[in-house]
Amino acid sequence: MTLHYPKKPIPTSIAVFGASGRMGRPLAEYVRYAAPEIRLRVITSSAAGVAALQKQFPDSEAICASYLDRTSLHAAVEGMEGIFMVSPSGMDEQTAVTNLVDAVREVGTAIHIVRVVGYEPEAIAARVPEILASRGGDASQHFIAKTLLDRSRLPVTFLNCGATMMDNLLFSAQGIRERGTFVHPPRYIPYIDARDFGEVAARLLLSDDARHITQFHTVNNGQDQLTTEEVTEIMSDVLKRRITYDGSRETFMREVGSQLDQRYGRPGQGDYIWDFTQFELSNSVVWSLNNFAERMLGRRPNSLRSWLMEHRQFFLPG
Ligand SMILES: NC(=O)c1ccc[n+]([C@@H]2O[C@H](COP(=O)([O-])OP(=O)(O)OC[C@H]3O[C@@H](n4cnc5c(N)ncnc54)[C@H](OP(=O)(O)O)[C@@H]3O)[C@@H](O)[C@H]2O)c1
Repeated sequence: MTLHYPKKPIPTSIAVFGASGRMGRPLAEYVRYAAPEIRLRVITSSAAGVAALQKQFPDSEAICASYLDRTSLHAAVEGMEGIFMVSPSGMDEQTAVTNLVDAVREVGTAIHIVRVVGYEPEAIAARVPEILASRGGDASQHFIAKTLLDRSRLPVTFLNCGATMMDNLLFSAQGIRERGTFVHPPRYIPYIDARDFGEVAARLLLSDDARHITQFHTVNNGQDQLTTEEVTEIMSDVLKRRITYDGSRETFMREVGSQLDQRYGRPGQGDYIWDFTQFELSNSVVWSLNNFAERMLGRRPNSLRSWLMEHRQFFLPG
């Protein structure tokens, strides 16, 4: 453990975009718990969601702002020293990041920005196949965001979700419940609990270690890099029921595709995810587990088995 390292000030105010989401919410909860003195601004882009967000974080300021609305964005980062930026699949990052960078510069108070990205370390935009690049989305948008943020010279840490989030498995729950069949694309990928990911982001913002600025930290739980068949085995074991695996595109599109379209508000998202996982599979050799989350959390991150134990009621018949 290094005892001497360059120090950065810890933000006295933090703005959390996507604060009702699966990453932003645990981040905000951790900041509230660990540093209640910090001025916390929780943000949603949905006007209808502000009241619920305020209720969830009564001691914080809940507001509505969108990366695509410059005026709201300016108000969102006004007076903020720490900023968490997560964007949804398919976001127009050129516009979103340009707007955010402009707002942050105009306001001039930011000392640390954490931006969520998601791609294999060492991957480059040019390797994203046309079938994905032409549609925009997870496979290409983070390269655009990173390039723009690097160019801005703002104090950014890139938090790379080098894993699939465990709660993605809930999209497949119905087939498991009703037929004991796990419908999922063939994958070989690390896992992370979104709550742990959010806490890692919070701990980065609360850290006084200046070395995090400009870093690209890849996050996974350090223990589960699994094929879909291996996940099926763990499921069977946890549920005490023999689960079979169906990795066909046809079943996936029929049973999971439309849920994804709906969840992400993006027609064709299911189809995109299928193509994305096919691309990922052919590049999976570059994934590897690491201990970054464990070091940041000061504990072992949640395992997929524990997550399944905790959520087994969603997968059991009835
Ligand atoms: N899913 C995975 O397993 C995975 C794996 C690796 C990387 N990633 C990356 O991680 C990121 C988050 O993924 P996710 O699946 O958790 O997505 P998500 O649930 O859609 O989260 C995105 C967040 O962005 C906020 N948001 C949406 N539109 C906005 C706007 N116009 N302005 C400001 N905020 C906006 C949303 O909150 P409001 O709607 O309340 O504003 C939401 O909480 C994505 O960039 C994805 O590529 C995901």
